Amino acid sequence: MLLGNRVIYTVSNKMAVMADKRCWSALYVGLTLAVLLTLPHASDAQTWCTSLIDAFSSYNCVCRPASDSNDVVLDCSNQDLTSVPSMAPGKVLPTALIIHEFILANNSITRLEDNSFQNFRVNALDLSGNSIASVSDGAFDPLIADLRELRMDGNFTEPPKSALNSLKDLEILTLGDYKVNYLGDSDHLYFFSFKHLKRLTLRQWKIIAIEIDAFKGPNSLQSLTLLQEQDMVNLPLDIFTQDYLKNLKNLKISMTSIVEVGEKAFSDSMLNDLEELDLSDNLISDIKANSLEGLGLSLRKLSFASNYLRSDTSDLTGLSNLPRLEELDLSGNEDINVIPDFSQLNLADQTDVKIFLGNNNINTLSSNAFSGIAPRLHTLDLSQNRISSMAPDSFNEMANLHVLRLSQQRGVTTVKFALPSSLSESANSLTHLFLNGLNLDESSVSEVLPHMANLEVLDLSHTGLTQVPNLQKMVNLQELYLTGNSLTFLNQDHLIGPRETLKKLYLSQNPIKLISSCIFAHYTSFPITLALQSVQLECNCSLAWLQRAATNGRINLTHPPLCSNFNIESLLSKNATICPNDDFKDPPCENPYTTTPPPTTPRPPSLTLKLVKVTSNSLTLSWSLSNTVGTLRSFDVKITNSYGNSEFIRNDLHPRFFQVEATPLLPDTQHKVCVIANFQSINSVTECTFIRTEKGSGSGASGQEGDSDSDNAGIIIGAVAAAVLLLIILAAIFYLVVVRRRPKKNSGPTSTPVQPRNFAKSELPSMSEDSRTFTRPKRPVDNHDGMQVVAISDGQVNDRHARNGSARVGRAAMLHSDGSYKLMSAGDSSTEGTSGIGSVSGSQSLYENDRGLLPKTPPYHDHGLRGPRQPGYYNEAFEQDKYDEIDMQREVTV
Ligand SMILES: *[C@@H]1O[C@H](CO)[C@@H](O)[C@H](O)[C@H]1NC(C)=O
Repeated sequence: MLLGNRVIYTVSNKMAVMADKRCWSALYVGLTLAVLLTLPHASDAQTWCTSLIDAFSSYNCVCRPASDSNDVVLDCSNQDLTSVPSMAPGKVLPTALIIHEFILANNSITRLEDNSFQNFRVNALDLSGNSIASVSDGAFDPLIADLRELRMDGNFTEPPKSALNSLKDLEILTLGDYKVNYLGDSDHLYFFSFKHLKRLTLRQWKIIAIEIDAFKGPNSLQSLTLLQEQDMVNLPLDIFTQDYLKNLKNLKISMTSIVEVGEKAFSDSMLNDLEELDLSDNLISDIKANSLEGLGLSLRKLSFASNYLRSDTSDLTGLSNLPRLEELDLSGNEDINVIPDFSQLNLADQTDVKIFLGNNNINTLSSNAFSGIAPRLHTLDLSQNRISSMAPDSFNEMANLHVLRLSQQRGVTTVKFALPSSLSESANSLTHLFLNGLNLDESSVSEVLPHMANLEVLDLSHTGLTQVPNLQKMVNLQELYLTGNSLTFLNQDHLIGPRETLKKLYLSQNPIKLISSCIFAHYTSFPITLALQSVQLECNCSLAWLQRAATNGRINLTHPPLCSNFNIESLLSKNATICPNDDFKDPPCENPYTTTPPPTTPRPPSLTLKLVKVTSNSLTLSWSLSNTVGTLRSFDVKITNSYGNSEFIRNDLHPRFFQVEATPLLPDTQHKVCVIANFQSINSVTECTFIRTEKGSGSGASGQEGDSDSDNAGIIIGAVAAAVLLLIILAAIFYLVVVRRRPKKNSGPTSTPVQPRNFAKSELPSMSEDSRTFTRPKRPVDNHDGMQVVAISDGQVNDRHARNGSARVGRAAMLHSDGSYKLMSAGDSSTEGTSGIGSVSGSQSLYENDRGLLPKTPPYHDHGLRGPRQPGYYNEAFEQDKYDEIDMQREVTV
């Protein structure tokens, strides 16, 4: 019960709020544990700041919560303090209070006494920007337990070795403005006691040389930085061979007088884990061959920015075999005037690389400038060079390029700069494109830019544009810079596209007169920052929208436009008078984002047909419509039999009719029955069905029994049929051998064939020399295998005067499996082989096989592509099917 509510509240507001009476005891136990575990670090920043400000009320210190912890930052920088602030008498800080960062930078503190930090608990102490000439040996002792980071600047004296040595747990140390010409000789070992030091920065120590043991002590140093050592002319290669630097990941030696990275400089080094090497701001003109040998397995970032590297000699040959390189900074080397050969980096396939070549003197971009690394390029900075031309294919294969800077090429202001067409290869990857300051050829802009759908930042400032490029695909665009161009007006069309993302639009210094109230119509990315510095607009009612948007915060006008008609005053200062007409309404805006759906045509109703009654020669049909969407005009009814002949047609039946009786129809015939509903305004609707009329009263047994047989019966019948067939074939052979050798009968074609007609049994075909037998083996379907239909001509095939192609076959007979045959010359009643007598109805000649009626043979005169090629029976439906066609080639002349 020592831990009352107050403590719990102090530890965590959120947890206290969550506390529920029902689970209070559980929470109590949990919190007790949590408080005990976290007590040394946990704090309520506000409460602690109150205590701190109270204790240091005589100073202008600022207390704020630390960004990355629950602790506080006490900032007493820039106060002209001459000593570390001391607490007001009688004030005591809570023992748990730890100042995460105590900033005393940029003051005039010169001395640190033994008691300077009495009663403080500090994690990080910043004493930079002071000139601390004297530090008593015990000055840091009160901080030993908590201090992890120290920044301190001296007065170009020796570093306070004894005082520092007590901070054995220091992890980060930054010391500037000391004087140690030869770091690391026996008198100048400063880091020996920092066993846990991870990061060490020495700035301006006037170092001339670094001895081999200089950084001995810390065994896990990860980052070493040497800055502003102007007397240092050589890389301290010796120390890199030492075991104590084997964990180094970052090495930065900058602002020295080092002039070269010698051959095999790192070959013997222990820097096997080095990931970043920063040698920027030196005097290096040479990266000798194999200079970086030994670093290739680990190096990810390499900078030689602001040196004197030359591209016209072979001094960059050392930039080779760094397969894991992700960042290479060669910017600010004024003697680099061509793109170095990056292919020798031998980048691994999976590496994305950022290359910075800004602020050099590169003057041209040739076709293969980036060969070998083009597909690997993530970022390319070529800004501030002298590039006046680029080969159209300079950007070939850069399909992974995210960031491209081409801004501000020097000395090429008069030439129009054409964006290379190969930039389109980066259209799907580019997110940041900087073209500011280029005198752009506008046609190349409109060719290349509109495809860049992933752009987030596009800088086209000072590029001479007269038009905003098409943004329609740029639905990710957040920042668009168009400052200093020749835009004269801005309307909705110009800004169609990035309506969900655009946050910044810079239009300053354009001769814009007019800005439509619709430019941000359908935008959802408000508030939008809009810069219109020194833009002079005609301020009237049609600009009132901008005033309103600026007032209500939807638009943040960093630079309000001026009103050309109000003495060039700011739009925002003219609030009352710009639109005296209260009734003014902004014109409506288009919505280009929703594609208007095509006008909905009403769905036509569907027809349902119902057979009411069927007889042998009639059928009664009724129908209904599913709805009454269209205005019904009439119904048509069409009945066609399976031979393709139309037997019944009624057109323009009154819409009241929903039933019709169709007669006369052929009996025992499949009919296609169609009803068509015609409407006033919508397409007519057709529905068809198939109905078979019943058998006529006079029709006898038909040969269709096979259709309903079981499989077994089918097989039996098939076998019987095959046997019968065999007999028939034998009979045929008999005929061939015996009958055909008889003298020719005088049986020429009749002069006027009557077709079709029936024949008496005595007239049945007799085989003669001009008789032909058409044999059509049937497809092996169902149980008809082995069945053959034999059509026997009566010899009239030579009658070339016949007008109807169907007459060519004359008579056909189907043989039944029992040996009987059936003449097939007439429609409804066939002649059975036993009687030989049948009746013929109508003028049509119909043929059937054992499956039913055959489609009508097209008229002979109708031949053509689809018509019969030869006189004879011809089934149009099987035109492509040689197997079923009666093919003259396969005739057997008896
Ligand atoms: C101290 O001054 C330097 C130089 O003006 C500045 O860079 C640094 O940020 C300042 N430090 C603080 C903590 O204000």
